[in-house]
Amino acid sequence: MVNISTPVIILNFKTYRQGTGENAVELAKACELVEQESGIPIVAAVQAADIYRVVSSVDKLKVIAQHMDPVEPGKNTGFITPEAIQQAGAIGSIINHAEHQLPLEKISELIKRAKALDLFTVVCADTARKAGEVARLGPDMVSVEPPELIGTGISVSKAKPDLVRSVVEKVHAINPELPALCGAGITEKEDVIRAVQQGAQGILLASGVVLSKDPEGVLRELAAGFR
Ligand code: G3P
Repeated sequence: MVNISTPVIILNFKTYRQGTGENAVELAKACELVEQESGIPIVAAVQAADIYRVVSSVDKLKVIAQHMDPVEPGKNTGFITPEAIQQAGAIGSIINHAEHQLPLEKISELIKRAKALDLFTVVCADTARKAGEVARLGPDMVSVEPPELIGTGISVSKAKPDLVRSVVEKVHAINPELPALCGAGITEKEDVIRAVQQGAQGILLASGVVLSKDPEGVLRELAAGFR
């Protein structure tokens, strides 16, 4: 599996127009530039339909899917298998994002499938309890994201510092080597500085960069928050 070191910025392009098709390629190139300049790993989470296009257009940037379906290769229609995202060039996937949640048993099944394929997994959790549950399943990273803050510009590290701290403690009590990230509402350097102070080893974000008039400039500012 590709090793993703921390601290890390995982940028979720979601289905925003600004992160789709050729726009996804331009955004990925901005991620690659800032990663090269700053030395902070940046991972692009793109729509399945854009994986091959984006991977073909960047050099070293790591690209992951936003979701994988727990279905086997075979008689299934309209799903996204781990095998397919890997063959498109993705090195892993988000699992259980607040906007595409799965039952715990399916999350467990997907993590096993991903491990068998050497695919990276970052599993999202909306509460500290859920973060502990998914941490026990052996993902590569866990990210807490309170859904009510997603897209608001009110960062989880400012609005819910105790949540971030408790998730870091809970995850590291289960596996001290398992990186705990946080996301939702993150838009600026101060949000990153506070997340780091609370023990987070990376951030998962979307609108603060994807909807910005200067995605590259915002990414540069966020990366500086880890120094
Ligand atoms: O996956 C990260 C995303 O859900 C956070 O959204 O727009 O608040 O950064 P946003």
